[in-house]
Amino acid sequence: MDYSLPRGTQDILPDEVDYWNFVEKTAKKIFDLYNFNEIRTPIFESSQLFNRVISESDIVKKEMYTFTDIGNRDLALRPEGTAPVARAFITNNLNRSPQHSKLFYQGPMFRYERPQAGRYRQFHQIGVESIGSDHPFSDAEVITMSYRLFSSLGLKNIKIYINSVGSDTCRPVIEARIKQFLASNLSQLSENLQEKFKHNPLKMLDSKDETLQTYLSGLPDMREALSQQSKDHFNFVISYLDHLNIPFEYKPTLVRGLDYYTETVFEVVSEDLGAQNSICGGGRYNNLIKNLGGSHTPAVGFAFGIERLIMLLKKQNISLPNQPILVYIAALGKEYQMECIHIAEDLRNLGLRVTIDYNKIDFNSHIKLSQKMEASYMIIFGEDEFDNKTLSIKDLHKRKQESIPASNLIPYFESLTGLTYV
Ligand code: HAM
Repeated sequence: MDYSLPRGTQDILPDEVDYWNFVEKTAKKIFDLYNFNEIRTPIFESSQLFNRVISESDIVKKEMYTFTDIGNRDLALRPEGTAPVARAFITNNLNRSPQHSKLFYQGPMFRYERPQAGRYRQFHQIGVESIGSDHPFSDAEVITMSYRLFSSLGLKNIKIYINSVGSDTCRPVIEARIKQFLASNLSQLSENLQEKFKHNPLKMLDSKDETLQTYLSGLPDMREALSQQSKDHFNFVISYLDHLNIPFEYKPTLVRGLDYYTETVFEVVSEDLGAQNSICGGGRYNNLIKNLGGSHTPAVGFAFGIERLIMLLKKQNISLPNQPILVYIAALGKEYQMECIHIAEDLRNLGLRVTIDYNKIDFNSHIKLSQKMEASYMIIFGEDEFDNKTLSIKDLHKRKQESIPASNLIPYFESLTGLTYV
């Protein structure tokens, strides 16, 4: 029997979970400021959903976890969150409730990719989708929100790259220009790239192939190929970001892996991450909801990978906010444990984190354990304390100990922590 962890997945242990909570809480706080509401969708959907909207991407071609259930339904573990949210938007008629047009989500996604640092087969995204407006304000708002989020987490050296892939009407013009520019060197390119040239020349732009990159170096500014409407849209987004001093860089070769994008696309990257340097990606997708059978509903959003973001927090030595203090209660004998439970419950009512170990009864083992647990205070209760109706309280950081009347427990911790007993 092989019970090992499946390749590309990981257990997230308690120490690590502190980072996850920090990221998730900060994200929720920021999304709330922009009036985004949480939505939760199933982790599996009909395979058709993804085949319909991201059929051209490697995700659907090579990376989907698909299966047939007992009822013979073709299902897929979701590889991303945008298509499921769009599906939920249609299924639940969310277009009728304006307060539900700005949504965020978080949860596991699944892609059969080759695992490496920052790339997993089960990974977790936090994403937002702002649905229903084609105004460039919405594009700029979600980009600003991502910037605010990464800044409030304390991240440094992050870059926002931005580009426009145009609307349906400009896409053929852009593609024709790319083809025209590369045509004379086509025979020098790999078979794979020649295929892309035929079917999806836009995707050639972000290829890592060095030969192609040298041929692409003199490519004229693709913004020229945009329709006036798309140019105006993109320029508006840029001027909004400028206006708010959001640092960004125009990157004409930025096209994204998923095929549903129209107009604005963007990515947040960090050079500190190595090969998998993209933390966050997003853009506008004006046709997706319509392609899934809904009415014409333009939308824009982004998602970031929690694992990659945490890698970056650690690399940049960003420390977590201080945990609330932990009080360790040491009973110096089995006969004092019941009393210690009362003390613990009282302190929990005050809002303190409290732990008791029922296996240890001698002072030295309690001290060792309380230090390992990084407790701030230890309350010692043994024969002396029982006889004198007192408690001994040890400040484990300052290494000072004092004795207080047992009846003074709550006021003592109230004045120490500023908390109030309710
Ligand atoms: P994506 O660029 O495919 O976009 O993924 C977004 C982020 O998810 C990436 O920037 C990366 O941080 C993380 N990610 C992707 N694949 C992996 C992996 N195998 N392991 C670890 N992290 C990964 C989307 O998924 C779009 N749905 C984003 C979007 C929302 N566009 C509009 N709205």
